[in-house]
Amino acid sequence: LSNSTSYIIHPQVVLIGPDGVGKTSLMTLFERGDSPSQTHTSQKSHSVELNASTDSSSKYSYKNHEDTTGTHTKFLLIDTPGHGKLRNVAMERLNRCERLKAIVFMVDAAALGEPESLAPTASYLYDILLFLQKRVSDKSNNNKKNNTPVPVLIAANKVDLFTALPSTLVKTNLEAELSRIRSSRSKGLLDSGVGIDDVDSEEQDAWLGEYGSEKFSFKQMQEFEIDVDVLPGNVTGDGPGAEKWWWWIAQRI
Ligand code: GTP
Ligand code: MG
Repeated sequence: LSNSTSYIIHPQVVLIGPDGVGKTSLMTLFERGDSPSQTHTSQKSHSVELNASTDSSSKYSYKNHEDTTGTHTKFLLIDTPGHGKLRNVAMERLNRCERLKAIVFMVDAAALGEPESLAPTASYLYDILLFLQKRVSDKSNNNKKNNTPVPVLIAANKVDLFTALPSTLVKTNLEAELSRIRSSRSKGLLDSGVGIDDVDSEEQDAWLGEYGSEKFSFKQMQEFEIDVDVLPGNVTGDGPGAEKWWWWIAQRI
């Protein structure tokens, strides 16, 4: 930047995931303190400025707008469209972040028990995790900022609904599906009879998690210093609410 009185880029947190899972609802809840009565399918990315604190008396709550105790950090929460046809819009927005601090990947815990929901959800998550892994492992990337590992929160939403899976099952179902996707995407490699030691580094770079392992687990992302947490919650209805997610974000910006 040529001008030293340059603008400040706030820490950025990206809200991403399949369509209809509640991303825009959550953003509105954080921004206004209540959830919207109606939302529309998002077609664009949209960001709001929020303040979070780790030392104020209301640090665990997103309803801290008036709180003057402690210090607050301003950050940008960026909502992205989840529709399959708009995934490039979401990925492009993610790529454009200059101070990416965390990713909240939201899933519909009430739908995830169905293969029709699990498969596309895991496929999107796979792309996001591989994007983050490559960002860290890319040796040619000299831009330090882009090498900083970014933690991921899998926000298991809609636990107010009786069909909602407990978060332990959300986690294991996603891990099982990610394992399946990984082996199908690397099928050519495994079938060719080439030993693991012989594959070129390009193949290795396209492999999510621990290279050559049979089953994928989120723990494997720690090899790339990427922490993945799964936390249940809800934006509407009765349940644990969204405060755990807020606190997770507050600690990472
Ligand atoms: P796209 O913009 O298409 O990517 O979807 P989105 O992820 O932004 O979803 P949105 O916030 O528009 O919510 C979709 C629907 O889910 C709305 O009808 C919400 O009211 C509903 N919804 C959101 N959160 C919850 C929740 O915690 N529980 C229940 N039961 N419904 C929810
Ligand atoms: Mg939306």
